Amino acid sequence: MNILITGATGYIGSHIALVLIHKGYNVVLYDNLSNSNHNVNTALKIITGKIIPFIHGDIRDTEKLVEILVDYKIDAVVHLAGKKAVNESIQKPIYYYENNVAGSISLLKAIEKVNLKKVVFSSSATVYGNPQYLPIDEKHSTNPTNPYGQSKLQIENILFDYTKSEQNFGVACLRYFNPVGAHQSGLIGENPKGIPNNLMPYICQVATGKLPYLKIFGNDYNTHDGTGVRDYIHVMDIAEGHLAALNLIENTKGWHTINLGSGQGYSVLEVLITFEQTSNKFIPYKIENRRPGDIDICFAKTEKAEKILKWKAKRTLNDMCWSTWNFHLQSFVNNN
Ligand code: NAD
Ligand code: UD1
Repeated sequence: MNILITGATGYIGSHIALVLIHKGYNVVLYDNLSNSNHNVNTALKIITGKIIPFIHGDIRDTEKLVEILVDYKIDAVVHLAGKKAVNESIQKPIYYYENNVAGSISLLKAIEKVNLKKVVFSSSATVYGNPQYLPIDEKHSTNPTNPYGQSKLQIENILFDYTKSEQNFGVACLRYFNPVGAHQSGLIGENPKGIPNNLMPYICQVATGKLPYLKIFGNDYNTHDGTGVRDYIHVMDIAEGHLAALNLIENTKGWHTINLGSGQGYSVLEVLITFEQTSNKFIPYKIENRRPGDIDICFAKTEKAEKILKWKAKRTLNDMCWSTWNFHLQSFVNNN
């Protein structure tokens, strides 16, 4: 099976590429490198021992996409390309809708033109907004609280409508919770530019001495230790979820919304302590004010994924922390 991955050199796309190549899929990588770089292609070549076709392009370029879908006889698209920073989306909403939503429409036009029938889409638990109940299942209402989340929901709606209009079209819409961790090689992982917004990359930068201490955003939440609780999931589990999703849409048509989470919540302090234990690094922290928009607890109900995808996250918080740190150590060695 020939798979086009959009956003392929990004954090999650590169891990999906590895898992699919390992399973014998022919993979074509597509990315405009707005938030990634060519080093990822080199790393993928080292890990797999294969030269994987990479095309530098934008998902808003419909004609280029049509060419690729035809030339490489693509059977399914795994669509990850998009911008993902919540704060940036609040500052630049038009850019987010243009890149994410118009970009996805452009991709769908190409898909329609070549009569392709299978898409796996990277959505986010952020489409649920503030949890009305826990654990969050796929029937939970959707009410995103920022333009990034809105853009994800709009793409979901467009894909859903297209699935209704187009016979034999199959979409697996995967709503990720909090992906963290890295491939065991330490050659690919998450390396955000500038000061990280998310917890795990921030902790790493404290561990490497780039930042002086972790700011814990509030210890007065309604949780067992007062700090926010989230459903962290290893990026390799996420990647394997895509393999299962491709199997699903190979055999079934129509629309499938599926949570990809571990189903388990961990607090900021639990993540911090586990990171300290696995990295053997002391992580200084200070309790600061709550971050606007943050919630107490969020974690997934995972039964649907288990039933429909026959997939379950299997890696532990230890694995997530160790692999994150291993990736940062390797990056440090390679860059110094
Ligand atoms: P990432 O930024 O590392 O990867 C996204 C990739 O898309 C980047 O390599 C970027 O260069 C590329 N890209 C962006 N706009 C493009 C365009 N117009 N044309 C071509 N390429 C473009 O992010 P990630 O963490 O790997 O996330 C991948 C997807 O998963 C995103 O759609 C994101 O919204 C979704 N998601 C991520 C998380 C998370 O926490 N990382 C959670 C839920 C959902
Ligand atoms: C964030 C995004 C969400 C995205 C998700 C993916 C926001 C508001 N939401 O969610 O859209 O889908 O990442 O991973 O950005 N924390 C600290 N100090 C820090 C960073 C975080 O204490 O420096 C705390 C937060 O308050 C939260 C927890 O760590 O309790 C996790 O935060 P983060 O990694 O940013 O993820 P989310 O807020 O769940």
